Amino acid sequence: MKFKISSLLFFALCLRPNTSSSWDEWWAYEGISGPNYWGLLNPEWILCNKGKHQSPINIIPEKLVFDPSLSRLKLSSDYVNGSVRNTGRGILLKISKDSKVVISDGPLSYDYRFEHILLHYGHENSRGSEHRINGFTFAGELQLYAYNTHLYSNWSEAEVKSHGIMAIAILIKLTNYEHPEDNQQLLQMIHALKNLSSKTSQSQQIYNFSISDLLSESLKYYITYEGSLTKPSCSENVQWIILNKPIYISGHQLRLLRNLMESKGLGDNFRPIQPLSQRCVRTNIDFNNVCVKV
Ligand SMILES: *[C@@H]1O[C@H](CO)[C@@H](O)[C@H](O)[C@H]1NC(C)=O
Ligand SMILES: *[C@@H]1O[C@H](CO)[C@@H](O)[C@H](O)[C@H]1NC(C)=O
Ligand SMILES: *[C@@H]1O[C@H](CO)[C@@H](O)[C@H](O)[C@H]1NC(C)=O
Ligand SMILES: *[C@@H]1O[C@H](CO)[C@@H](O)[C@H](O)[C@H]1NC(C)=O
Repeated sequence: MKFKISSLLFFALCLRPNTSSSWDEWWAYEGISGPNYWGLLNPEWILCNKGKHQSPINIIPEKLVFDPSLSRLKLSSDYVNGSVRNTGRGILLKISKDSKVVISDGPLSYDYRFEHILLHYGHENSRGSEHRINGFTFAGELQLYAYNTHLYSNWSEAEVKSHGIMAIAILIKLTNYEHPEDNQQLLQMIHALKNLSSKTSQSQQIYNFSISDLLSESLKYYITYEGSLTKPSCSENVQWIILNKPIYISGHQLRLLRNLMESKGLGDNFRPIQPLSQRCVRTNIDFNNVCVKV
């Protein structure tokens, strides 16, 4: 195995100019460039293997620290425009530069502006989410990434700096039938994808995508911890917020997503669970008094 990795690295160094954009293509969710090797593929990704505050994690409700001082999250506005594409590793909604929706309050000491949304899902209904609750995996996970506009001027700068990023995780549950609980924003993303072939270079414009509908009433109750990006560079500057309420997807929509991915021969696009180490995971959900559905 060791030999394989070093020869792969050698191969990579010979073929690829050492710029971050080309390195960015050089990782996968399985095999020799899969999650266990991310930290070995590029010296700048060392935290993927050596970091102590990595994401995702398994959330154990009994071990959460109840913190009633965690206030409701606040959104500055609502609608964004953007473009959706299949990156070859997942579905990406890139939010356009003139759509300035900012999130603040809650555990956040700064304003963070939404930059992109990633959708994770599995080949089977029994897996797909990155975060887990009591070891339970959901059918998928939608992640909204925002960068610190107080301290940094853009995503690339914030990505490598302290307090740079805030990410919201929304767990996605499977429903057995098409129904009104289907999340309209998720439908809008999937609908846009229908027009794409499996070519990763194509993208589809999306208009008036509602961030607040997506987050709905869940801005009030959440779980929060300090972690990392769940893909290379695995930088440990992400304040994670996991919303209390899941959203729903139907089996039909999941199959549609899988067909998009499978045409590229790719596996499940989630990173395995990382050790919690000494981290504290806080919540403002009072498990003694509220009935929490997960
Ligand atoms: C989104 O695009 C529409 C149509 O071009 C435009 O009217 C609207 O102002 C844009 N919204 C944002 C937030 O940029
Ligand atoms: C991001 O901001 C930094 C610092 O202001 C600047 O040097 C860099 O060119 C910007 N990058 C992009 C992609 O705009
Ligand atoms: C997909 O393409 C069809 C036909 O060209 C078009 O009518 C439809 O609006 C497109 N869907 C989206 C989400 O852009
Ligand atoms: C988006 O919203 C803007 C402002 O409300 C509106 O002018 C525009 O027509 C909408 N665009 C689409 C594609 O729905």
